[in-house]
Amino acid sequence: MGQAFLEIDGLFKDFGGLRAVDNVSFSMNRDQILGLIGPNGAGKTTLVRLITGILRPDSGSIRFKGKNVIGLKTWDIINLGIACTFQNMRPFRRLPIIANVMVSCLCPRAMKRGEWVKRVEAKALDALEFAGISDMSLEKASTLSQGDLKRLEVARAIATEPELLILDEPFGGLSPAETDLMAKSIKRLHKGGRFGRLHSEGPAMIIIEHKLQQLMKIVDRIIVLNYGIIIADGTPEEVVNDKEVVESYLGEGGI
Ligand SMILES: Nc1ncnc2c1ncn2[C@@H]1O[C@H](COP(=O)(O)OP(=O)(O)OP(=O)(O)O)[C@@H](O)[C@H]1O
Ligand SMILES: [Mg+2]
Repeated sequence: MGQAFLEIDGLFKDFGGLRAVDNVSFSMNRDQILGLIGPNGAGKTTLVRLITGILRPDSGSIRFKGKNVIGLKTWDIINLGIACTFQNMRPFRRLPIIANVMVSCLCPRAMKRGEWVKRVEAKALDALEFAGISDMSLEKASTLSQGDLKRLEVARAIATEPELLILDEPFGGLSPAETDLMAKSIKRLHKGGRFGRLHSEGPAMIIIEHKLQQLMKIVDRIIVLNYGIIIADGTPEEVVNDKEVVESYLGEGGI
């Protein structure tokens, strides 16, 4: 058996009396796109915060490429190759859009030795172009619409050249047309190799979404959380037909 790419075992996180993540264990491979779904408050964002080092679990283990990441700073975790976008976008609003992405490019992982500002700028533009907002690169981030803010989030994350990219509701607040565009971008990114110098190999992904129809077209596996507990883990088909998932999340109408 080869070593798992991401391996999570017995993870717990309480907030006061509330158990947000309850004995979560799963592992994923380097080539996977994994959907993470479940009702509001199920613990999805909390789980991502544990993986990215923003929060520390009460117990359990998280290993990325065989290395324990619990206790590492978020910055160090990014340098190992995990990047995420945030459900609530918080760019540097007064900085130009391109400067927001250049900050990500300055992470040592993305900034190889001898790389000067011009190349960082070019790399940031690549990421913006991939995300579809390169024509606005000099505008302030505060001018962006909801949909374009999502795109900026994606650009900032991919500029660190992640091997695992975690997207927290990438379709949130987007129109159907914008959602389609974003879904196509995500699929292209996962395939890899086509965006300037970025990503010769596409990253593995974990995607949190409530828009299940669109999500199901992208992912090859779905994990369902409910009250912090994994209640289903399988192919999209298996999961949407699972009795417990229908009862606790989907309802009789399905997706
Ligand atoms: N920092 C915090 N302090 C206290 N409680 C928190 C904190 N963060 C999250 N919670 C609680 O933990 C539970 C899980 O929240 P979380 O944000 O992880 O859910 P989610 O699955 O991402 O939901 P949504 O689909 O609405 O984004 C919720 O009950 C939430 O109120
Ligand atoms: Mg959330």
